[in-house]
Amino acid sequence: MAHQQFSPQSAIVGSEEHDREAIDELIASLPQRKGVVRPFQSLYQDFWCPTYLLPNVIALQRHFQAKHKDIVLASQPKSGTTWLKALVFSVVNRSRFGISNTPLLTSNPHDLVPGFEYQLYGSNPTPNLDSLAEPRLFATHIPYPSLPESVKQSDCRIIYISRNPFDAVVSSWHFYLETAQSNDQPKWSLEEHFEIYCQGKISFGPFWDHMMGYWKESLERPHKVLFLKYEDLKEDIVGQLKKVAEFVGLPFTEEEEEGRMIEEIAKMCSLKTLKDLEVNKAGKIPVLNIKFENRSFFRKGAVGDWVKHLTPSMVDRLNSIMQEKMSPFGLEFKTR
Ligand code: A3P
Repeated sequence: MAHQQFSPQSAIVGSEEHDREAIDELIASLPQRKGVVRPFQSLYQDFWCPTYLLPNVIALQRHFQAKHKDIVLASQPKSGTTWLKALVFSVVNRSRFGISNTPLLTSNPHDLVPGFEYQLYGSNPTPNLDSLAEPRLFATHIPYPSLPESVKQSDCRIIYISRNPFDAVVSSWHFYLETAQSNDQPKWSLEEHFEIYCQGKISFGPFWDHMMGYWKESLERPHKVLFLKYEDLKEDIVGQLKKVAEFVGLPFTEEEEEGRMIEEIAKMCSLKTLKDLEVNKAGKIPVLNIKFENRSFFRKGAVGDWVKHLTPSMVDRLNSIMQEKMSPFGLEFKTR
């Protein structure tokens, strides 16, 4: 896919009205396709961006100024974003909040770690983020090459969570279907969804480019990008939490370890605990006029659920994509 020549920093200058016109013109010039849930996706800087988010992405790219202490959580949808948000929020804020008074008890993780393109740049192209407590925590689904320059150039840290594509495609089908239903939109089959996924046309995809962008950066600059796998978190949450804490410069002390703080954080952030909280059973995250139900972010949380859904030919197809696009660069996943 050709790289779009547009540079958000240079192409849009002048009054707000002028900006809006320039953005509209740009969006109109991009290849578009009918997406899932939201009607359209646009191919922007080599990824399929939900069209309604594009003005937010462009504003973010133009205006966001990273601070050295910032932590950006990056992922593709349905890879464990919600879990990562809860975990990192807890690690970073452990001296401010204990388990009994953690804001996780009353707020959905997506409200505690807001997304750049969905929440922060949704209603205002220049939100005031200076007053946020440091280290500031942000989240994004944008691929690495399209992150704001200041995120890439500064010393801020990026934590990426990936997930094996077999479970990710099944999870995303369930999620988008549920979201479509609660927004009175038509259903579609797993076969249709799988096809879109394998063609690379799922939101923020192609999925292989998304993972490889962060993977390669994590190999080149391990102090900058920590690449996590959902399956590793399921297998050894304590070990992975230690890794996260060290990466953000806040390693657990011996005293904390002896006091079983890591286990407490893991338990607080477990699927079972979060799923059973009132705040996550009810409530919605509105993004323009679409509503994401809080509860739809918590389903099974299993490794290997795909076995019940994917046919042998689907498995072969996904395997060959992974072998072609990821394995040569050393990226492999446990799938069960
Ligand atoms: P499943 O649909 O396979 O159950 P995201 O947060 O990126 O939208 O990803 C959602 C997936 O992560 C869903 O997977 C969801 O159940 C799972 N998940 C959400 N919270 C979790 C948690 N605390 N622990 C483990 N998995 C979690």
